[in-house]
Amino acid sequence: MKILLLGSGAREHALARALASDPATTELVIAPGNPGTANVGTNLHIDPSAPEEVVDLAAQMEADLVVVGPEAPLVAGVADAVREAGVPCFGPGAQAARLEGSKAFAKEVMAAAGVPTAASVACSTPEDLRAALDRFGAPYVVKEDGLAAGKGVVVTSDRDAALEHGLACLAREGGCVVVEDYLDGPEASVFCVSDGATVRALAPAQDFKRLGDGDEGPNTGGMGAYTPVGWAPADLAERVVREVAQPVVDEMARRGTRFIGLLYCGLALTREGLRVVEFNVRFGDPETQAVLARLTSSLPQLLHAAATGHLGGVPEPTWSNQAAVDVVLAAPGYPGTVTTGGRVTGVEAAEALEGVHVLHAGTSRDEEGNLVASGGRVLSVVAVGADVAAARARVYEAVARIHLDGAQYRRDIAAGR
Ligand code: GLY
Repeated sequence: MKILLLGSGAREHALARALASDPATTELVIAPGNPGTANVGTNLHIDPSAPEEVVDLAAQMEADLVVVGPEAPLVAGVADAVREAGVPCFGPGAQAARLEGSKAFAKEVMAAAGVPTAASVACSTPEDLRAALDRFGAPYVVKEDGLAAGKGVVVTSDRDAALEHGLACLAREGGCVVVEDYLDGPEASVFCVSDGATVRALAPAQDFKRLGDGDEGPNTGGMGAYTPVGWAPADLAERVVREVAQPVVDEMARRGTRFIGLLYCGLALTREGLRVVEFNVRFGDPETQAVLARLTSSLPQLLHAAATGHLGGVPEPTWSNQAAVDVVLAAPGYPGTVTTGGRVTGVEAAEALEGVHVLHAGTSRDEEGNLVASGGRVLSVVAVGADVAAARARVYEAVARIHLDGAQYRRDIAAGR
């Protein structure tokens, strides 16, 4: 199978690694990729959000499957264009991608599908926003309606801070902001693969969204993750399929916008039961880096079956009994103004440890071929071990071998799990 994978983060490096290691994959092109994906496939520099560039490349390489990593190409209609060109694509079309692209749309679909989530109000004026903040009270949950790379959500007990964030969202073009009830309970992510009718869940994971230890500091794109989630009910994945993903997939089909791809279900396990915190329409980052480290069945077979409407004919994914933990190493300044260009050393030394691999995200090579930081989240360091504690010990041993001046990482990923 010839596969074109779009994206350039650590999630895509994890996908590329899992796709390339399967004998079903005969050729893997990553566009644009990063220095890590260059080790497992061929990087080609196109704009992954430009439908015609993606279609041309897929035709040129005679791709059997296009896998879309990030959300931006999906919202831009890349999956629609690839399917129209007759190439199977793992990723929803632009209409279905609105489940991530608009929080208000996701809430509407959940209401129609009877999926449990927090009560919410979509606001388009400062007056509506103030009224909604007063209606729900503290802690205030204020979410930018559109895509914000994980940084559009503010949860705070400070009404002024909530109002300030909401007003900033409203000031942007097409400004709309969703204010919702606070969901009290631990969170987990369950990725559900669908061909538009059948749904298969992957192993649950937990991510860490805040920059600092103890969940302090600003929201980020994600600072680490682990799997399995031992504290969650053993039947969590089945329940998410039954109570969340299948009803949403069925509702999208009823609307004539079949959901083909990955429905990321971000969940809170509250005292009242399972509640959806958010949907994304692609693999989560950094959870994917941990989840794929435990996958023992074929990823290309799973994604191709979803893209071609044959998911029902593929067995449930299988998992190693090991645990996996990943820790994100971020550049100085992240998630604000990032300092790039710092030299990254020690990756090989980290990978010399048993059960450890290092995934690239914001890295590039300088003129001498040295690895340097070129983005906010620079690396995801992944370790597997007999249990979460063993994987955690290994991952931090590996992180200690990597150096980047001013690097930031959390010391409490998977702590106490
Ligand atoms: N882990 C959060 C995300 O992928 O958006």
